[in-house]
Amino acid sequence: MTNRVRLGVNIDHVATIRNARGVAYPDPMRAAIVALEAGADGVTAHLREDRRHISDSDIERLSAMLRERGRPLNLEMAVTSEMLDIALKHRPPAVCLVPERREERTTEGGLDVAHGHNWIAPFVEKLRENGSRVSLFIGADPLQIEAASRTGAEVVELHTGAFCDAVRDGEAKQASAVLAALRTGATQAASLGLEVHAGHGIDYETVAPIAAIPEVAELNIGHFLVGEAIFVGLEEAVSEMRRRIDAARGHG
Ligand code: PXP
Repeated sequence: MTNRVRLGVNIDHVATIRNARGVAYPDPMRAAIVALEAGADGVTAHLREDRRHISDSDIERLSAMLRERGRPLNLEMAVTSEMLDIALKHRPPAVCLVPERREERTTEGGLDVAHGHNWIAPFVEKLRENGSRVSLFIGADPLQIEAASRTGAEVVELHTGAFCDAVRDGEAKQASAVLAALRTGATQAASLGLEVHAGHGIDYETVAPIAAIPEVAELNIGHFLVGEAIFVGLEEAVSEMRRRIDAARGHG
């Protein structure tokens, strides 16, 4: 196992802190630059329907900065026509379609592609035609993975939240069952020709078993890194995560 896993740093919660005061500081753009310099391969941002953290102008600025640096913006968005118009305008290199409910604190589950195929597939097609690589954020469920492969999406991002919660709650049996499902899901997705990403809830403790799944090509990590940055700085938090990912993959 030698291939390097890409790290996308999600900077949404830098914007959460900024918005708590309604001022311009701290700037998620600055966080994105520090993350790239510390070993992130790309930057992930979720433009939510209620704009609770990332704003339209953040997307505009991040998109221009990343384009200039030749690094990808991974735009997370709900499957709505408003978001589709924004994505078509900015043409981010990567789009991750996620489910979204206004009242949730974070993205709580994966997309129901198995039941939503006829609604999701046309979005995938338009985004792809516009030059974005499309990923679907789903649970490691064989039905969802199979449905995802029929939408034309090139990537699935497997939801790691249940695994990370089980580890944090000390539920070892549950954690190993969910990890086994992630492994099986990654193998199934790769066999269907999908690139496999993973994300949600990952911290220093949970990153190694996920990064060690051979098919995983990219991890998207946000909340923990922004929280850890309060204590050690963002540069240190991202480089330590990078180091742990590489170590799990037999490097470094
Ligand atoms: N991947 C997706 C699709 C997400 O929606 C999120 C949360 O915005 C993440 C990764 C990052 O999750 P966390 O902030 O818990 O690291």
